[in-house]
Amino acid sequence: LNVLFASSEVAPFSKTGGLADVAASLPQALARRGHNVSIVTPLYKHLDPKAMRLSRRLAPLEVPRKSKNQSKVEVTVWESRLDSGVRVFFIDAPQYFDRDGLYGYDDQSFEDNAERFAFFSRAVVELALTSPMSIDIIHSNDWHTGLVPIYGKHYYAEEFANTRFVMTIHNLAFQGKFDATSFKATGLPRKYNASGELLDDEGQLNYLAGALRYADLITTVSPTYAREIQRKKNGFGLHELLQERKDDLEGVLNGADYGVWSPDVDRFIEVRYSVETLNGKRQNKAHLQHSLGLPVRPTLPLVGMVSRLTEQKGVDLLVPAIRSLLTELKDEREGFQVIILGDGPDKVVKELKQLEDQFPNRARIIAGYDEAMAHRIQASADMLLIPSRFEPCGLTQIYAMRYGTVPVVHATGGLADTVVDLRDDPENGTGFVFTEHNADALAGAIERAGAAYRNYRKWRPLMIRAMGKDFSWRESAMRYEELFLDALPEQN
Ligand code: ADP
Ligand code: GLC
Repeated sequence: LNVLFASSEVAPFSKTGGLADVAASLPQALARRGHNVSIVTPLYKHLDPKAMRLSRRLAPLEVPRKSKNQSKVEVTVWESRLDSGVRVFFIDAPQYFDRDGLYGYDDQSFEDNAERFAFFSRAVVELALTSPMSIDIIHSNDWHTGLVPIYGKHYYAEEFANTRFVMTIHNLAFQGKFDATSFKATGLPRKYNASGELLDDEGQLNYLAGALRYADLITTVSPTYAREIQRKKNGFGLHELLQERKDDLEGVLNGADYGVWSPDVDRFIEVRYSVETLNGKRQNKAHLQHSLGLPVRPTLPLVGMVSRLTEQKGVDLLVPAIRSLLTELKDEREGFQVIILGDGPDKVVKELKQLEDQFPNRARIIAGYDEAMAHRIQASADMLLIPSRFEPCGLTQIYAMRYGTVPVVHATGGLADTVVDLRDDPENGTGFVFTEHNADALAGAIERAGAAYRNYRKWRPLMIRAMGKDFSWRESAMRYEELFLDALPEQN
């Protein structure tokens, strides 16, 4: 199959969350299955083509702003090849991407986000047309590339007669919603500015809603999330549309790239380790405690968290749960230490910092985005907290298991699909799961984990079991392949 994978972020080039990891690892997993896969993404300001030794495509890409022939914008396309042979195309459009940041915490964080990603989506379609081989699958991801199926089908129905458009929902909370007056940013004819087209039930311009109507195949990133989003509670206003398309909707669990996220090969951690050398994990823990000025206490459980600090991630539960536990468990032999790495609005960071002020020997809050620190926490912590209100898949719990870091998670979406509670299944348990979404339930789960940690005869097999779980892309990439083949017209 010839596949063009379009994403607004791709690790290690640009990243705000799990989408970047998937945008790098899924295409490579498909390539390993023999497919010809390329990735296309914006060239953001922090990416320097020279330093990255990118090669420049000879012919600039001409991207029309409106119908086929009007006002074309010429952009440079840069190219890089990953070790696996997968090509990455960077769209260099300074007027849209030469600025700090990717797109901000909300759809409207940059006031021209509607135009920026309309442009990027149009560029994806134009790039596909320049391909010497006809492309079988153009794979969009989240709202940023939501207009791809619409541009493709509206302007180039003939050229793409044998191409299928796939949309993967990584997070339904972000839809690319804008005031209907932003419609002109799409350049599309007015007929699309209507409900049942690019407008949603609230009359807002909604890129994801449009994509869900025009894509040939819709996937999301875990089976449980695929069911959850068809209900009002987690449907963010699009549940009815998703129900209508349920025959073309499937949840395929994300995989992990164990070439990047595994303690035996991790480039960022102090001491590499495996199931046979678990002492390495203790050394990483001591290093991290020391470097953050926390007392070095091997017997005190170290609870970690690596997360975007948003409502989705359940950050509102953290302060009350941790405060009540640390207040109660004062004794040196009890309690735990907690390290939270998180990027988010100042207000949220400030609230979390109160924990550090109140419990200087117990809590550290590291604000901002720090790739190396994310790996070091995975390698050092004994447990990883993921109290998400909803979680389409979640990758940090999957990574944590590989590092023998036992996940403490809320039973939702992909967290429910990947973590087995130790109490429910003592033989196969891989973590601690709580069902009610409140601070008491989170505190209860942390307490259970802490008690289990203090019994090494129980804890060690739990760690080893978690480390042995295989969440590589193998099976999921196979499933994508089957879905792609089913979506294609017969003659292919
Ligand atoms: P989401 O995509 O919703 O943010 P995932 O669990 O799928 O959640 O993926 C999160 C990814 O982002 C992981 O690779 C995680 O290590 C990384 N990450 C999240 N927050 C930070 C941060 N503050 N610094 C470094 N990496 C982070
Ligand atoms: C989203 C989701 C997360 C998922 C990631 C990759 O950001 O919030 O659950 O793991 O995308 O699919």
